[in-house]
Amino acid sequence: MIGFAEGTKKNLAMDGTGVPKLKLPNRKADVVAGEKIYQQSCMACHGSKGLGTKAADFVATGSYTFPPLAGKDSFNNGAGMSRLKKASQFIHANMPLGVNSDAPVLTTEQSYDVAAYVLSLPRENKKGRENDFPNKDFRPTDYPVPAYFNDDKTALEKAKLGPY
Ligand code: HEC
Repeated sequence: MIGFAEGTKKNLAMDGTGVPKLKLPNRKADVVAGEKIYQQSCMACHGSKGLGTKAADFVATGSYTFPPLAGKDSFNNGAGMSRLKKASQFIHANMPLGVNSDAPVLTTEQSYDVAAYVLSLPRENKKGRENDFPNKDFRPTDYPVPAYFNDDKTALEKAKLGPY
């Protein structure tokens, strides 16, 4: 029996503090493989399009029983959770709901691929995110902001899907 956690607040990703670092595969994440994992292990709660499961009192409160991973009520593309390394770590340690980092259910490879699929879903754009890390020496490697890469599509793709 899985306990019900409260849904996360609108537009605010969980910060993933305390989530152990993962040694990610030395390859590009596979969005197509990730979609299959999503359908098997995530869709029941997070919905076929990642729009979550609304609470019975959604109209009054706007709350979700299971939070959306896409769309306007989900975390935006500037949130820590929108970055593939962070999302892979979070998912490996916490999802499907009920697991913890001592007893993960997904392998590292599966976490990486399913995270890439989740991040491929549509979400709100954070205005001004190109100003988040103006100094590239301090920029996370998994923050695919087009303005950071000028016309280098390969570098942008690598920030989006690895390998890191
Ligand atoms: C049994 C229901 C359930 C299943 C199955 C499930 N989740 Fe979740 N998920 C939740 C709940 C509830 C939360 C919110 C956790 C909290 O607030 O503590 C959550 C949170 C998340 C978040 C963070 C969202 C945010 O806004 O920060 C991500 C990402 C996520 N889940 C991905 C997945 C993936 C990928 C899978 C499949 C491998 C999965 N979940 C399977 C219930 C579920």
